[in-house]
Amino acid sequence: MANSEIVGATQKPRWQHDIWKNRKSDEWLTPPYILHELGQFDLDPAAPLDRPWDMASKHYTKSDDGFVLPWVGRVWLNPPYGRATAAWLSKLYEHGNGVALIFARLGSIWFYDMAWRKADAVFFFKRRLRFFLPDGTEGGWSFAPSCLLAFGDNNVSAIESSSLDGKLLKRVAQNNKETCHTAPNSAKQAGTLGG
Ligand SMILES: C[S@@+](CC[C@H](N)C(=O)[O-])C[C@H]1O[C@@H](n2cnc3c(N)ncnc32)[C@H](O)[C@@H]1O
Repeated sequence: MANSEIVGATQKPRWQHDIWKNRKSDEWLTPPYILHELGQFDLDPAAPLDRPWDMASKHYTKSDDGFVLPWVGRVWLNPPYGRATAAWLSKLYEHGNGVALIFARLGSIWFYDMAWRKADAVFFFKRRLRFFLPDGTEGGWSFAPSCLLAFGDNNVSAIESSSLDGKLLKRVAQNNKETCHTAPNSAKQAGTLGG
């Protein structure tokens, strides 16, 4: 799909950000080399209705509502954007076996909670990613940096042994104690920071 189709024929976007802002769509697909590097997944619970390639052995789409269906095996999750993202990540955390591809939203409460308190590892891509369109063509550069969250040791190992370019940070649990610092007034902060 040409950029002009995304934002309207008369308005040409200068940045990928404009494309994302104007195209209210979740249909931005994972670059296939990332899936290839991480090995076979059993389930993609948030898959496009028409996909140019398989993301996993089994797919749930919008018409199934993959959020409510049972998740099985090793899950690949590039979740719908916006407010729903945190709920999808929580479900993956509860499932305990999978990898999520998300924007590195440092400064948001849900990112803090998921990345620093719940994920077994966080992998920051060295470069911004170019996501794909449902017709299999490559889009422009993403406006924000991306990262992977790994849940389960097998998924930490998969990232570790991949050739993906970036920085892997593994969670260090010290005697099961919380490694994040919680300030006395954090409840108040949590209410004002937003996500
Ligand atoms: C960011 S795209 C990722 C697509 C694919 N998982 C990938 O990794 O390339 C998010 C996808 O979630 C799908 N989606 C949105 N709501 C959904 C729902 N309730 N159940 C299943 N899929 C959903 C959208 O149609 C979209 O294809």
